[in-house]
Amino acid sequence: MSDRYAVFGNPVSHSKSPAIHAAFAAACNQDLAYEAILAPQDGFADCVRAFVAGGGCGANVTLPFKREACRLATRLTPRARLAGAVNTLSFDAPEWLGDNTDGAGLLRDLTHNLGCPIAGMRVLLLGAGGAARGVLGPLLDAGPRRLVIANRTEASAHELAVRMRSGGEVSGCSYPQLAGQSFDLLINATSASLAGASLPLPNGLFAPGSLAYDMMYGEQETPFLRLAGSRGAARLADGLGMLVEQAAEAFRLWRGVRPATASVMAMLRSGDRQTGSR
Ligand code: ATR
Repeated sequence: MSDRYAVFGNPVSHSKSPAIHAAFAAACNQDLAYEAILAPQDGFADCVRAFVAGGGCGANVTLPFKREACRLATRLTPRARLAGAVNTLSFDAPEWLGDNTDGAGLLRDLTHNLGCPIAGMRVLLLGAGGAARGVLGPLLDAGPRRLVIANRTEASAHELAVRMRSGGEVSGCSYPQLAGQSFDLLINATSASLAGASLPLPNGLFAPGSLAYDMMYGEQETPFLRLAGSRGAARLADGLGMLVEQAAEAFRLWRGVRPATASVMAMLRSGDRQTGSR
C-alpha cells in the first residue's frame, strides 16, 4: 500500500496541496497517496488521530488548525516553536513532529523565484496574526535594513516586534502611522483578502522598483495587489509560489528529497488559465 499523507483544513476542498504533492511524487518516483480531509471545527485532533491509526505518515495543516497542530505535536522544530504554528506534521510513533515550512517557502519564492534579495531592503509586513508570525523569523534572518510590522490592531504589531527584537531592526505600528515612509518589499500577511477587503494604507508606501507580495492567492487578483498596482509597485506577486515552495519543504521533511518546483508552478498557473480564472 502507498504511504498516506493528507492536508487537514476547514474549508479544504479548494486546496491545491493534493495536486502539488501528486506532481512531486511522480517527479521524484515516490509511492505515496495524498488526500484532502475536512476536519470539523471542533474535531481536528480526533481526525488526525484516526488518520494516524489508519497508517498516515504525515500531514499538512491549513486554516484554522495551525495553532492547534502546534499544541498537538509532541516535538517542535525551532522554527515551528518561534512561529507558534505548525503547517507540517510527521508521524513516527510515538512522536508527532511539528514543523512550520511557511517562512522557508516564502523566502525561497522571494529570493530564488522572484530574485528579491531582502538583505538591505526596507520591508513592510502587513498583519500580526498567525500568518505573519510564521514568516517573521525567516524574514529577519535574511537581513533587511529594517522591518516594520503594521496591523489594524496596533498593540499586536508592537507585541510581535518586541518578541522578535533580538532578530534585527524591527518595529510595530498602525496603518495610519505608516504615513511618510516607503518600502522596497511589501508583504500582505493579513486575511483581509479572504473577505475581499482592502487595507487602509496611506499613499507613498511603494518605493520605485518595489515588490508587492500577497501571501494569499486566488482566482482573481487580490485587493492588496490591485491597490499596489495602482499605487506604483513595480512588481506584483501572489502566494502561489510560496504555497508550492512550502509544500516542497514539507515533502523534503517526509521523503528526504526536495522536488523541483518550477514545473509544478507552471502547471497550476496554466490550470487557472484553462478554467478562465487568471
Ligand atoms: P492568520 O492565521 O491568517 O494570520 P489571524 O491570526 O486571525 O489569521 O490574523 C489575521 C490577520 O489579518 C490579523 O493581522 C488581522 O488584523 P487584527 O489583528 O487587527 O485582527 C488581519 N485582518 C483580518 N481582516 C482584516 C481587515 N479587514 N482589515 C485589516 N486587517 C485585517
